Amino acid sequence: MLGLQLPTDPRWVNIVEKNIEEILTDHAYCEQKAASTAISLIVSFPEYTELVQEMVALVKEEISHFKMVHDKILERGWVMGRDRKDEYVIQVTQFFPKGGSRTIQLVHRLLYAALIEARSCERFRLLSEELEDKSLANFYRSLMVRVKPIITQCF
Ligand SMILES: [Fe+2]
Repeated sequence: MLGLQLPTDPRWVNIVEKNIEEILTDHAYCEQKAASTAISLIVSFPEYTELVQEMVALVKEEISHFKMVHDKILERGWVMGRDRKDEYVIQVTQFFPKGGSRTIQLVHRLLYAALIEARSCERFRLLSEELEDKSLANFYRSLMVRVKPIITQCF
């Protein structure tokens, strides 16, 4: 349904739930990067008025998600950690060729962002179904319900 070629191994949740602080930190950076990507698209393609309008709305939504995740970190008495390299994101980025016309570059950047969002949505579902921490599972269910209709429009 999300257009992903390979599903995440369901055991992924069992591995990552041993370090909820790390999940929340990684997630917070994903939300921050989604907002940053939307701002970057505005800066790179200001002549696409409809895109700019949509990206402004997206920046607001993603930064609100960032705050929600940051609040979860603070609720647990933690401080957000440092960002880590994400091998999946690196490989997805490298899949798309560099260069080409501005339109091709825009399409590649939008596809790249949609793939990252699709993977996030899939993992939100896994977290919502499998996490033993039911409060956090419900949090991920609420995020998945918001993101899924947008992703399914992309694929
Ligand atoms: Fe988000």
